[in-house]
Amino acid sequence: MNFDEKARDWDSNPARRERARAVAEAMRRQIPVRPTMTALEYGCGTGLLSFELRNELGKIVLADSSTGMLEVLREKIAAAQANNLFPIKLDLLVDPLPVQRFDLIYSLMTLHHICDTKRILSLFHQLLLPGGYLCIADLDEEDGSFHTDPFEGHLGFNRQELAELTTMVGFEVLGFETVYQMVKIVDEQSRAYPIFLMTARKREIFG
Ligand SMILES: C[S@@+](CC[C@H](N)C(=O)[O-])C[C@H]1O[C@@H](n2cnc3c(N)ncnc32)[C@H](O)[C@@H]1O
Repeated sequence: MNFDEKARDWDSNPARRERARAVAEAMRRQIPVRPTMTALEYGCGTGLLSFELRNELGKIVLADSSTGMLEVLREKIAAAQANNLFPIKLDLLVDPLPVQRFDLIYSLMTLHHICDTKRILSLFHQLLLPGGYLCIADLDEEDGSFHTDPFEGHLGFNRQELAELTTMVGFEVLGFETVYQMVKIVDEQSRAYPIFLMTARKREIFG
């Protein structure tokens, strides 16, 4: 999937903006969101979710592997003078792990594009401070009709299996909530694709 090509028009789809708003609202309900927290958004795209949360968090690092997405994001940051948002080009599966550690990592609709789920969860774990929070918003299992473009990745996630992997790499899973439904017309019929928010916390290491 070529996100560089999609970047310019990304925000023109109202469902993507609504989805980011719904995820931000659910995050506020599920975990503490505080100005003292330093956060990483992974697979930020044009930054829709971080723009929703930026006034309630401290420094936010916005990471994405798409140059096109980051270009649009940089323009939005400059226009809004959003001085606590820091974009970086990063693919954690390829690039060295950043040295900074975070109180919160969140990701919206990105995990299903990453084949090795256990590895990315484990990298998130390494990037979090003890007691840090992880919020993953993504598709529930679907039948392959969600993506029309060529696509390598997961057809959504089984919540139980994702919870098991997340626990295995060192998190306590706090819960799942259905936060949004993406509606698409498939074969001339309206189809709803639910999106969950999983919240988890990095287990403190004692002894
Ligand atoms: C479906 S878009 C979601 C963008 C944004 N989170 C939103 O909800 O509007 C997925 C994003 O993940 C990024 N992405 C995909 N694989 C990635 C990887 N391995 N590392 C970093 N970003 C990645 C893409 O470039 C794209 O911006």
